[in-house]
Amino acid sequence: MDSIRWWTLTLFLGVFIAECKSARILAVFPLASASHSAVLHTITVELAKRGHELVVFDGYPVGTEIENLKNYREHHLVENEVSSQELRQVLKRQVNLLQLMLKLPEVSERLMERTFSNPEMSRLIEPNSEETFDLIIIEWVTWDSLNALGYRFKAPVIGLITVPISAFGFSIGLPFHSIDVPPYMTGETGEKTFFQRLKGFAIDFALTSFMYYTLNRQQRVIEKYFGSDYPHVYDLMRNVSMIFTDQEHWMPHPTIGAPNVINMGGIHVSRESEQQLTIDMKKFLDSADNGFIYFSLGSTLPGHYMSDETRKIFTEVFAAIPYRVIWKWEADLPGKPDNVFISKWLPQRAILAHPAIKAFIYQGGLQSTEEAISAGVPLVALPIFGDQQSNVNKMVNVGGAVKLDMHSLTKEDLQKAIMEVVLNNKYKQKIMELRDLLNDRPHDPVNNTMWWIEYVIRHKGAYHLKLTRSTLIWYQAQNLDVIALSTIILLILLFVIYKIFSSIVSLCRWIRIKNIDKIKQS
Ligand SMILES: *[C@@H]1O[C@H](CO)[C@@H](O)[C@H](O)[C@H]1NC(C)=O
Ligand SMILES: *[C@@H]1O[C@H](CO)[C@@H](O)[C@H](O)[C@H]1NC(C)=O
Repeated sequence: MDSIRWWTLTLFLGVFIAECKSARILAVFPLASASHSAVLHTITVELAKRGHELVVFDGYPVGTEIENLKNYREHHLVENEVSSQELRQVLKRQVNLLQLMLKLPEVSERLMERTFSNPEMSRLIEPNSEETFDLIIIEWVTWDSLNALGYRFKAPVIGLITVPISAFGFSIGLPFHSIDVPPYMTGETGEKTFFQRLKGFAIDFALTSFMYYTLNRQQRVIEKYFGSDYPHVYDLMRNVSMIFTDQEHWMPHPTIGAPNVINMGGIHVSRESEQQLTIDMKKFLDSADNGFIYFSLGSTLPGHYMSDETRKIFTEVFAAIPYRVIWKWEADLPGKPDNVFISKWLPQRAILAHPAIKAFIYQGGLQSTEEAISAGVPLVALPIFGDQQSNVNKMVNVGGAVKLDMHSLTKEDLQKAIMEVVLNNKYKQKIMELRDLLNDRPHDPVNNTMWWIEYVIRHKGAYHLKLTRSTLIWYQAQNLDVIALSTIILLILLFVIYKIFSSIVSLCRWIRIKNIDKIKQS
């Protein structure tokens, strides 16, 4: 009898302790993006493997990785971030990037409407639902109304961002970053002259005020789905516990952070990939005696949006080079050369790891850049939008890539770039040096990220790490109001001094004239 009681107690305690250690986590990643998900899922899957319970709302499903994880529940959010039409326009340059950016607030609002009107999500957030969570993890971009989930569940919020935090750190008061990180869309790297700094400052200022101003759309979403008694979205954002960013000390650019901003650069390439080549891909690549080129413009921009002329340039050049080509292409390919293999889905990391690969033709996305570095594959780059330009400039500067312009591409340029990268060994060497750098760091990024996430859980939000500046409005955190007031006071002082001086001068003149008059009179 006693022994039964003892066992029951032990069992109960055991379960109790296990419960304490494992947290219930809600994660929401509304964007359907393969490259973002590579990073985001590395984290959620690892958390589940460590025994935490995950409820994940996801625009891009995890796939087979979670088949055996009973504590990982996934809800698929069906959506489409920027409509295909808009992307096609970008690729054909009918729309400029500023216009696309102006669309972002509207797109973010639509994305949130879809997320919060999801039936499973509605059930979760309705006022009398009994669900509880110990931690909320969100993708930290321009859909900031997700921060309301922290307030709803009285749980700390962690933001994940798949690029350097840069302007997205405005709500926690991070310094303007354009001296270190190329100003958005300009891609300028290296030392800055006065005018480049002025331009960078103007872009930082405009972008930040724009982002702050457009929060009203996210505020509308919160009022609609959570009620008008919630704090303002900006206050919710400033309450974030920690932000993890796909940035390593030097990759893509050394920059300034904060105690509660944690680098996790290259996290998704720090573990072996489970990807496999299909049988026909493997056969095609294994028998590429002369080696092969891998071509993909990523998942956000399907290749078949390319214009007919551009597509022809690629097929003709591929037919002329002495290598096989594996190409991510989603439709029929008219005039497909015999040495080209097309597929609408390609296991990128498995292809990059194949020993016969010679070069990777890509669009410059950060995750692809990290994958190429970690596989030691030199690059031919055709940057299209966002941060691609600056990633590519970085890779060109360090000598690991050749850059081409998609819109003025010619057959000669493309062929020359491919042959240069394949035949001149210095590109491969540079990439291998970068690979050594990426692998040389004091901690494993997955373990480090897990440690910090569990730290936030253990210390109930770890609010002691927050900078005081995160309690200020963005322009106060940059001291812009102080600089503005000081400038005004200085100008007023100068004006007053000028006035006094000129009064003295005219007084003197007046006295002199008076004296002369007196002399004349006398
Ligand atoms: C900030 O977070 C804490 C703990 O998660 C919560 O109690 C508080 O209400 C939050 N405040 C705001 C303004 O979101
Ligand atoms: C990560 O942590 C686990 C357990 O704490 C350890 O076994 C493993 O070796 C670590 N991985 C790396 C790459 O450091």
